[in-house]
Amino acid sequence: MTDIEELPEHVRANREAWDRYAHEYVEPGRRSWSTHDVSWGIWGIPESDVQLLPDDVAGQDVVELGCGTAYVSAWLAKRGARPVGIDNSPAQLETARGFQKEFGIEFPLHLGNAEDTPFEDASFDGAISEYGAALWADPYAWIPEAARLLKPGGWLMFLTNSPLVILTSPDLEADGPAGTTLLRPYFGMHRTIWPDDTSVEFHLPHGEWIRLLRENGFEIERLVELRPGPDATTRYTQIASLEWAQQWPSEEAWVARKRA
Ligand SMILES: C[S@@+](CC[C@H](N)C(=O)[O-])C[C@H]1O[C@@H](n2cnc3c(N)ncnc32)[C@H](O)[C@@H]1O
Repeated sequence: MTDIEELPEHVRANREAWDRYAHEYVEPGRRSWSTHDVSWGIWGIPESDVQLLPDDVAGQDVVELGCGTAYVSAWLAKRGARPVGIDNSPAQLETARGFQKEFGIEFPLHLGNAEDTPFEDASFDGAISEYGAALWADPYAWIPEAARLLKPGGWLMFLTNSPLVILTSPDLEADGPAGTTLLRPYFGMHRTIWPDDTSVEFHLPHGEWIRLLRENGFEIERLVELRPGPDATTRYTQIASLEWAQQWPSEEAWVARKRA
């Protein structure tokens, strides 16, 4: 395990932030662990509507990069996969370990940075991140790391905020969710620090995601722009209203495969 002083500054900032946020993720995490029904993102869009996972993950080794309370790994385990979770927050992992005992589903959980993991080259059939590394780790580090971890032909799925939501969200959360005005540049988008928080997020323009994924040996299979249904609800009302998210994508999922 890397000493905290050796971690990049944004990883240290995000560890401190996520240890602070962790208590808010216990009950939502428990609800997700309690169900077999896979659903994604802030609107809980059913997997059956969007098919972000391979049809059959049984017997696959899958790494979850930034697993948080690890309910995605638990869903994969229920589908017969062998998940391994890595997360940067001791507090989030403590919650995940508690759920493993509560629900009787055990898999390895590691404390660490998804940009620089302890796992062997080509040791996984799949890599996944729902608002984990996908949002909180530097893509110029974690995408090459995911490529290193995957076997040839291995799959990658990650889900994060859309660029549109980042471009149209006011600086301060108190000023409301995403609106209809572009508030910051699209070109050059990479590292985002909101003035009312200490955490560090990462977002890229679409062209840059495509370039980065291809440069690291991935073929992109799909970019799914998630649209909630008319009755969808979210506890993340600070991100986007339902009316907004039905008109513009508030979140997106990239599905890619490492070239064989
Ligand atoms: C929103 S949670 C993601 C888990 C879950 N899918 C969810 O949506 O609640 C974000 C997680 O990313 C983790 N994280 C942030 N930076 C990370 C990094 N560099 N490496 C690994 N995990 C990281 C945080 O500790 C946190 O547990």
